[in-house]
Amino acid sequence: MLFLQRMSRPQLLVLYGSQTGTAQDTAQRIGRQAQRRHMQNQVAALDSYNVANLISESLVLFVVSTTGQGDPPDNMKNFWRFLFRKSLPAGSLCQLDCAVLGLGDSSYPKFNFVAKKLHKRLQQLGASLLLSVGLADDQHDLGADAVIDPWFTSFWDRVSALYPSINSMTAVPEDQPLPPSYKFHFLDDVIEKSDDTGRAGIPREQRVPSQSHPFLARMTSNQRVSHPSHFQEVRLIEFDISDSNIEFTAGDVVSMRPCNNQEDVEQFCQLLQLNPKAQFILKTNNNSAVPLGLPEPCTLRHLVERCLDVVAVPRRSFFELLLCFSTNELEKEKLAEFSSVPGQDELHAYCGRLRRTTLEVLADFPHTTAELQVDYLLDLFPQIQPRSFSIASSTQAHPGRLQILVAVVTYKTKMQKPRKGLCSTWLASLDPTQGEVRVPLWVKKGTLKFPPEKDTPVIMVGPGTGVAPFRSALQERIAQGKMANVLFFGCRSESKDFYFSTEWRERVEEGQLSLFTAFSRDQEDKIYVQHRVKEQSKLLWELIANRNAYFYIAGNAKQMPTSVCDALKETFELEGGLSLEESDQMLVAMERVGRFQSETWS
Ligand code: 2AM
Repeated sequence: MLFLQRMSRPQLLVLYGSQTGTAQDTAQRIGRQAQRRHMQNQVAALDSYNVANLISESLVLFVVSTTGQGDPPDNMKNFWRFLFRKSLPAGSLCQLDCAVLGLGDSSYPKFNFVAKKLHKRLQQLGASLLLSVGLADDQHDLGADAVIDPWFTSFWDRVSALYPSINSMTAVPEDQPLPPSYKFHFLDDVIEKSDDTGRAGIPREQRVPSQSHPFLARMTSNQRVSHPSHFQEVRLIEFDISDSNIEFTAGDVVSMRPCNNQEDVEQFCQLLQLNPKAQFILKTNNNSAVPLGLPEPCTLRHLVERCLDVVAVPRRSFFELLLCFSTNELEKEKLAEFSSVPGQDELHAYCGRLRRTTLEVLADFPHTTAELQVDYLLDLFPQIQPRSFSIASSTQAHPGRLQILVAVVTYKTKMQKPRKGLCSTWLASLDPTQGEVRVPLWVKKGTLKFPPEKDTPVIMVGPGTGVAPFRSALQERIAQGKMANVLFFGCRSESKDFYFSTEWRERVEEGQLSLFTAFSRDQEDKIYVQHRVKEQSKLLWELIANRNAYFYIAGNAKQMPTSVCDALKETFELEGGLSLEESDQMLVAMERVGRFQSETWS
C-alpha cells in the first residue's frame, strides 16, 4: 500500500480493550510517548469512546488483549458488536491511519485472536493499517517487552514518515517527568473521620447496576465453609440484592472492586508523606477519565483505599515513571536498569518472581518515594481492577439474595510475608455480624449457558470452587422441575472441603441429582473427578449419545480440564466404539452447538 505524507499535525487516539489492566498500561505508555513528541493524544477504553466518531479520526492505535476463550475484554464488548455490524459500509474508515497491537497468551488456543480479527476488520472497512499487527505474548516473562518495544519503534517510524511535522520539535527526554494528567485542588478543611464511604455512586433510579453505577449490596453472611483445620480458607458469602434491579441466571458472574486494607493505606500515606484526611477535588489536565465513583470532595484516604492498586506487582512502566522523579544517584541507577529492555530479567527476579508489591518497592526506594508529587498519584499507580466471581446461588432458591464461593488466596514466595489476594482477603475480612457491611457490585452475563428444555440432562464437573456455577444451575433447574442433573465434585477430603455436602445429599435423596465425588486425599492413591468420569462411562454415554445431554467443566486446577476431556473421549471410545479421531470430532461438534462448555481459571 502506498502511504502519502500527511501535511497536518495529527492527534493520536489510543483506544484500549483491557481485562486486567495490562493493555491499559500499554496504551498509557504509548500515550506518554506521544506526549513526549508534543503530540496531542487521548487514551481511552474502547467502550468509553463514541465509536461513531471513528469516521472523523485520522490516527488511531488500538491496544487490545484477548481473554480466556478468544473473547474481547469487557470494556470493548459494545465496540466489538458495533464494528462487526453487517450494515457498516466497506469504505467507511478510509480516512483512518491506524495500527493494532495485541496482548495475548500463547498457552491459550486462540492466541491474540481479538487483535488479529480487529486488524482484518479495519482493513475491510477501508482503514490504512500502518504496520502489521503486533502480537505480544504474556507467556514469556520478556515476551511482551520483546515484542512491544520494537513494535512501538516501528510505529513511531511509520508515523513520523507519514506526518513529518512531528519531527520538527525535540522530544522530551525519557527521564524528565511529563505534566501530570490530573490536578489535585486541596480544600482547607480536613475530614476528621472518614465519612465518604463511596455511597455517592448508589443508583436511586430504576437502572440496572453496572461498573459505573454499582449497587451497594448489604452483606448478609460470610461463613467459612472449609473446615478450620483445612489448609485453605473457603467462604460462602451472601449479599442482599433485593430492590437492586439485578437479575441473573445460572452461569452469570458478579463483579466488585476490592479495597486496600487499613495497614497498607497508612503505610502508603506515610511513605509518600500524604495526609489521609486531606480533602481534594480532582481536575483532569487532558482528557483522562476521572476514576469511577470518586466522591467530590474526596479524601486522600478514600482515594488510596478504594482506587489505587498499591499491592499489585508493579509493571515496568511504573519504574519508568519513578525514574523521572528520582534524584538519588543509587536509586536512579537501579530504576534506569529496571526501565530498560536489557534490565527486564533483573526486574523479573526482583519483582515478578517474588510477587513483590508496589508498596514494598516504594519502601526500597525511599528517597524517590519521598519526592513523588501528589498530582502524579493517578499516573503512577494503576487503579484497582474489578474482580469477578461465578454466582453460586439462584434467586429461585434464595429470593433477593446472591451468594459467592470464595477461596481466600494466600501463598508463599521467597518474600518473608505471605502473598495475599487483594479481593479474597478483603472479602474475608468483612464481618456483617459486627455492623453493616456494604459492597458495591454489579452482575454480568457469564459464558456458561444451560439448556432450556426440561428433559435435557446436564453433566457438570466442578472440583473445588469450580462447583459454584453448578450450584446456581442446580438450584435454578430443580426449581424449574428439571431433574436430570449429574454432578462430579472433587476435593481433598470428605471431612474438610466438601462444600454443600448436606445440600447435595438432600438433592440426591429427593431424586433430583446424581452425585459422584472424588476425595483426592482420603486414601493413599489420588482419586480425581476424571477417574469418576471414566467409571461412569456407561451412564455418560447413554446421556450424551441418546438423551442429548450437555457437558460442563468449571474449576481452577490447571491440568484438570484436559484430563476430564480425555476421560470423556475415552468414554466415547469405550461405550460408543468410536476411534480416537471420531471422539475428538464428537467433542468438537458438541462444543460447536454449546453442548460442551467449560469455564476455567488459574
Ligand atoms: P489435590 O490437591 O489432592 O491434588 C479441588 O482442588 C480438587 O481438585 C482437589 O481434590 C485437588 O486434588 C484436585 N486436583 C488437583 N489437580 C487436579 C487435576 N489435575 N485433575 C483433577 N483434579 C485435580
